Amino acid sequence: MSTVTLSSASPTGLKVDAVVVALASGADGPVLLPGAEAIDKALKGTLATTLAQLGAAGTVDEITKLTTQGKTKAPVLVAVGTGPQAEPGSPEYRERLRRAAGAASRSLAGTGSVAFALPIDGEADAAAVTEGVLLGAYSFDSYKTGEVKTPVETVTILGPGVKTKAVKEAVTRAEVIATAVNRARDWINTPPRDLVPATFAELSTKLAKGTKLTVEVLDEKALAKGGYGGLIGVGQGSVHPPRLIRLSYRAARAKKHLALVGKGITFDTGGLSLKPNDSMKTMKSDMSGAAAVVAAMLAVAELAPRVSVTAYAAMAENMPSGEAQRPSDVITMYGGKTVEVLNTDAEGRLVMADALVRAAEDEPDLIIDVATLTGAAIVALGPRVSGIMANDDTLAARVHVAAKNSGEQMWPLPLPSDLRAKLDSSIADIANIGDRSGGALQAGLFLKEFVDDATPWAHLDIAGPSFNEAQPFGYTPKGGTGAAVRTLVKIVEELEAGAL
Ligand code: BES
Ligand code: MN
Ligand code: ZN
Repeated sequence: MSTVTLSSASPTGLKVDAVVVALASGADGPVLLPGAEAIDKALKGTLATTLAQLGAAGTVDEITKLTTQGKTKAPVLVAVGTGPQAEPGSPEYRERLRRAAGAASRSLAGTGSVAFALPIDGEADAAAVTEGVLLGAYSFDSYKTGEVKTPVETVTILGPGVKTKAVKEAVTRAEVIATAVNRARDWINTPPRDLVPATFAELSTKLAKGTKLTVEVLDEKALAKGGYGGLIGVGQGSVHPPRLIRLSYRAARAKKHLALVGKGITFDTGGLSLKPNDSMKTMKSDMSGAAAVVAAMLAVAELAPRVSVTAYAAMAENMPSGEAQRPSDVITMYGGKTVEVLNTDAEGRLVMADALVRAAEDEPDLIIDVATLTGAAIVALGPRVSGIMANDDTLAARVHVAAKNSGEQMWPLPLPSDLRAKLDSSIADIANIGDRSGGALQAGLFLKEFVDDATPWAHLDIAGPSFNEAQPFGYTPKGGTGAAVRTLVKIVEELEAGAL
């Protein structure tokens, strides 16, 4: 990852390859934002007019590059659009900064050193810029053999008051978070032949070594012996057997104990209820929930909050074969409930149910699960917004706030109890599918059956935001995005602060 340094020097004298300034879209045309003053002065106050003449409007993701013709030490100036200005200090404002920083660093791939002269007032702004820069500088090139553009190498973040302890700490936290998000992206992007349940379990074990995390992995034998019917049922069609990974972080004098559960289907073919090729080709991303919880745990281990966290990654590959589970099979889940599997493509809820029941045995104060659970969530909320469902409205609202504060788009969805009847099975305790109406909610209601009502629980359906099939935007690349990592870490911090 790029290295970040903080400086309160003037951008005009810095020996860097490029300097980035921000441009907002105002009612009467583009507006240069604070941070750009010294550069504008060196250009004799012509910067705004020049940019307007070049057609810059300050819209989101807009990048305008110009040469400084020797008037500043840096040869190139980049103006990045932020869109309309939001209220300084608000989460919207910081997200605009984060996105602009990301769009700029993404557009500067192949450049060695870049200074960011953006409007930074305090540690939270500096952190947002750092996150944006590091997330925008992501690229996944392990499978390319030709020349690739390397992401920006050295980053200087400029601001009048950035040399304080508070800013340094916030920037260090931002680096930890960005590292975690970029890690999750790498795992999601890795082709499914190279990341099967056992590979991910080994990788998690290796990464946890030397950190404050302890790891336990249940292999297929232990899962069968333990009665994990969901993981076994989903995994039985594959030659790559399932795993349940448990990572735990224990804080001394912990204020709360949080359990995280992530869906880790390393490839979802649908099983015997086979998906068409077009729906299948992105299904290496069906372990994004597991990637998010494991990545968040690595961040938690570094940040060492006074909150204990236990994470479960429910790993399986959903394959059709002579040994695969059949639509109409009945499986017995961990904890003893029976499920009639009417559609083998509704596999996520099966592995999640096992892991949710197991997670409750640790007696956490609250449980948050993260899963690429339903295409219906994408129909309901579009590709960039995750759904929040919960058995506790206060928790749902707090998760929503945590998401907003970390710059992730999520929205609460209901769990209407009247829909539960759609999952009635004539021969088992519950069926794994109902009908097409409110599919995301039905999946949420299925999971709810495996959680004790007395334990606050929230379910995040990240089917849309986990994988960007469209063009990159802001700090979000094509492919795996690392969705939910930032929100999960924020939730841990809010638990520590007693705000959740
Ligand atoms: N992994 C999919 C959900 C998904 C779809 C995630 C698109 C990301 C993008 C999940 O396992 C699935 O196949 N769900 C089915 C449920 C249905 C059979 C009730 C779906 O959404 O079609
Ligand atoms: Mn599926
Ligand atoms: Zn799936």
